[in-house]
Parts: sequence; C-alpha cells; structure tokens
Amino acid sequence: MEPANKIWVDGDFVDWDDATVHFLSHSLQYGTGVFEGIRAYKTPEGTAVFRLHDHMVRLVASARAYGLAMKETAEEMDEVCLELLRVNDLESAYIRPFVFYGAGAFGINPKASPIHNYMAAFYLGSYMGDHGVQNGITTMVSSWRRISHTSFIPTAKGSGQYLNSVLAKQEALRAGYDEALMLNDVGLVSEGSGMNLFTVSRGVVYTPPVSSGILEGITRDTVFELLTGEGFEVVQTDLARGSLYTADEVFLTGTAAEVTPVREIDGRIIGTGEPGPITRKAQDLFSDLVAAKIPEYRHWLTFV
Ligand SMILES: Cc1ncc(COP(=O)(O)O)c(C=O)c1O
Repeated sequence: MEPANKIWVDGDFVDWDDATVHFLSHSLQYGTGVFEGIRAYKTPEGTAVFRLHDHMVRLVASARAYGLAMKETAEEMDEVCLELLRVNDLESAYIRPFVFYGAGAFGINPKASPIHNYMAAFYLGSYMGDHGVQNGITTMVSSWRRISHTSFIPTAKGSGQYLNSVLAKQEALRAGYDEALMLNDVGLVSEGSGMNLFTVSRGVVYTPPVSSGILEGITRDTVFELLTGEGFEVVQTDLARGSLYTADEVFLTGTAAEVTPVREIDGRIIGTGEPGPITRKAQDLFSDLVAAKIPEYRHWLTFV
C-alpha cells in the first residue's frame, strides 16, 4: 500500500496519518463495520472509477443489513469518492470506504456508539502479483468453510466476516499456495478468500450461485455479462469439489484480484497448466473495458 495525501473522515479531508480511531471503537473490538473495495483506472480519457455506484449501493445495503444507520446515500458517497481522487491527484487507485461504530458505550450492543464514515484511496498494483495474473496462481481447498447464511450475511461486506477469509488465506500461504478456495457448510464450492470463482468445462462457464454463501461480486457480474455478450454459455450452479479438479479452466474474479487464472488446485494441474482461452478472453475483455475501449460498457465508468 502506498500512502496517499488525504483521507476523508466524517466529511473532512485529513492528512493520511491523522485518520485514526480509538482503540475502544466498537468496530475494532467486535468487527462492526461495513466496507467496499473499488478501483479507479487510468484511461486515455482520464481516470475512471469502475462501477462506482454499484459499489456504493452495496455499501449502503451492507450497512442496512447489519442495522448500521448510515446517514449518507449511495449518490453522496459517489461524490465523496470522486472528490477524494481529485484531492489526492490519483490516476489509478484502490478505494476503501469504511462505515463503522466508533467508541461509545462498552458491550455488544453497538447502538450507543457513534457511526463514522471514512474513505481512503491509494495506489495498488496487481493484488495477486503480475506473475500470477499472467501465468495463473496455485490454490488449495481450505479446511475452513465459508461463512454460512445461517450465522452471517455473506452477501454483505461486514468487516468481522473477514476473520473467516483470514483463516483460509493464512492456511493456504502456510501450506505454500497463493490462495485459498472455500467450500460452504454443505461442502459445495463457494469462493476464494476475497474473490469469486468460475470454472470452464467443455466450453461452458460455471460459477456458484448466491445460495452457496458467496459475496455477490461486482466483477463476477461484469465477467458474466462480458462472456455472455461474446456468446458463451455462463451458468450459475452448485459445484462439487471434484468438478474443480476436472475443469478445463478455473479463474477468480474480484476488484482487487481482477481476473486471475488458477493453474493448480490441491497439487492437481488445471487444464494444461496455462491460463485457458476463455480465461484469457475474460481477462482481455475486462482490461479493455476498464481502459474505456468498449463503448457499450462506458456506463460502468465514472470519469473523475
Ligand atoms: C469475500 C469476497 N468475495 C468476492 C469478492 C469479489 O467482489 P467484487 O468483484 O465486488 O470486488 C470480494 C471482494 O470484494 C470479497 O471480499
């Protein structure tokens, strides 16, 4: 992470180092925050934020889901994001809005604690590394199961939920893999630690449904549209663990990870061990889209 100049804190722009919180903040103690991850890309026509409003709508929905009475609307958050990029003069950026309970009353009930709203933007390169994006990453099926609809709200980006992702990611790294893939509580494929999953078998593209416990990714939706638009059959369906091993191609999608090929799962080589043609197609379409090279998807870009 490369520090930027200013962070937006409850309506004001403050210096990067001054965007602090009290250690007794409810969200620090109990994970009661909701957030987003958004990217802005450099295009020949200037910097553009990718699917800005969709991200802010999901932020507001996450807050609502966890009963966090966020004052700002998605439209107001859009404006804050654009102003933050201007203030920091960033050509490309990762943007992190975070709405959370601060320090107030002690105890589980968050109601007596103030609600804060911060937003940072900073330069972030390739999340899985340039080598991983080019050649594919290695993964393992984690022994940790993805959080379930019966104990959390997987479709919301609640900060406390990410302890589950951290367990899986740490396990994978310790075992020498780049990333973890998680099954859900009934043993069906769900997603990675912070990205959605696609497989390709005999030319058909598959991705687990919302009921599998995934976060309904905006990149997932984007790739779904892009590949469907190219005439591919893309099916949301339950996937068994074994179908990962027999797939011709597997790739992961996310704002941070963008489109990342998977070349190995649990020591098994996927397909030829090289990113397959449909994975490459998804990568190429996605990078053209965020570079403002596909006119029909310009409505997904908000120019700064
Ligand atoms: C758990 C999880 N799944 C999937 C995704 C991918 O979602 P998106 O494409 O909206 O970034 C993310 C990242 O936000 C995530 O944290």
